[in-house]
Amino acid sequence: MSELNLAILGAGYMGGVHALSWTKVPGAKIKVIYSRTKEKAEILAKKYGAEASSSWREVVSRNDVDVVDICLPTFMHKEVCIESLKREKHVLLEKPLATSLEEAYEIMKTAEKARTKVMVAHCLRFFPVYSKIKSEVSRGALGEIISVRAMRSSTFPTWGSNAWFKDPEKSGSFFADLLIHDFDYIRWLVDAEAKKVVARITPKPVWAFVRPSDYGVAKIFFENGVIAHVEGGWAMPKTWLFTMHIEVYGSEGYLEYNSVDSNPLFLYTERSIELIKPGHLVGYELEIAHFAECILKDKEPMVSLVDAYKALELSLAALKSSLSREPVSLPLRKVKT
Ligand SMILES: NC(=O)c1ccc[n+]([C@@H]2O[C@H](COP(=O)([O-])OP(=O)(O)OC[C@H]3O[C@@H](n4cnc5c(N)ncnc54)[C@H](OP(=O)(O)O)[C@@H]3O)[C@@H](O)[C@H]2O)c1
Repeated sequence: MSELNLAILGAGYMGGVHALSWTKVPGAKIKVIYSRTKEKAEILAKKYGAEASSSWREVVSRNDVDVVDICLPTFMHKEVCIESLKREKHVLLEKPLATSLEEAYEIMKTAEKARTKVMVAHCLRFFPVYSKIKSEVSRGALGEIISVRAMRSSTFPTWGSNAWFKDPEKSGSFFADLLIHDFDYIRWLVDAEAKKVVARITPKPVWAFVRPSDYGVAKIFFENGVIAHVEGGWAMPKTWLFTMHIEVYGSEGYLEYNSVDSNPLFLYTERSIELIKPGHLVGYELEIAHFAECILKDKEPMVSLVDAYKALELSLAALKSSLSREPVSLPLRKVKT
């Protein structure tokens, strides 16, 4: 296979981002774009010379589609992903994998029987700054990792069709929708499983319609002794520019990145302070190029379904701990992953 015929499911925020990224992949052709409303599908489809559809079932059953890129609200992921896999499509699925571990497990079981590739779009791993941090940590530039602090702050995602984000049954809450980026990334960075999560949310959301709140903090204790602190949410004003920030503490060095005021990374060791410039490649494009390569060259995607399951588990554990005000031990379910 040297050409990829694509269906993009979702013409909202991420549908647009993914469609643009696929145009950078040689041999990829967007055949059809789905949105619940035909008019919205048509607007994006016209931009890429694709057909428009308002039936995702019709789209995933088409014989001229090899790859289904699912950019739909999280509560739809399980049904659409399973149907696409049963139709023998390669599937790129936006994060989070699902809204519950039961749903996530069903997807994993279906994927085990499929002969196609599936990857959950945990994009942070592909952002040049974050992949550079991973490579610095892996080469031992910081010695042994002691702790990681990450922040991610945003206004409420008002673009969401019918504001599905505000409802934790539909989005999994801001932990599963937003802070999951850091949960997945940190687990990958420290190369260990978490054993305990202690989390809290603010008692009242800034945006009154969001349930159960829109800001919180989670402490994660990993099996190898690393302690992580992840903080953030959707509580910022509309004028706020989305920001992310990470600090990695090691026995021999400290590394810091802040999306607001620095593109370089700062690496502090006993000997020097180094400014590292990872470049300006677009993370989403790198992520999609990677998935295309996995299909075309029969490689395993860098983000496995177990990775996506574990990231979701951390998010749900943070929510559970926030609601119960108790520490939560992992794993949440006794299943073989
Ligand atoms: N990786 C990242 O950085 C990132 C960023 C944002 C979101 N995401 C993830 O990407 C996925 C999609 O998010 P998004 O922001 O693109 O969503 P969105 O803007 O709300 O778009 C949702 C799309 O799904 C369609 N849809 C079909 N049935 C729907 C229903 N019952 N309710 C609502 N929409 C329905 C919408 O159609 P109509 O508009 O025609 O109704 C629209 O095309 C989510 O899983 C989200 O967590 C990832």
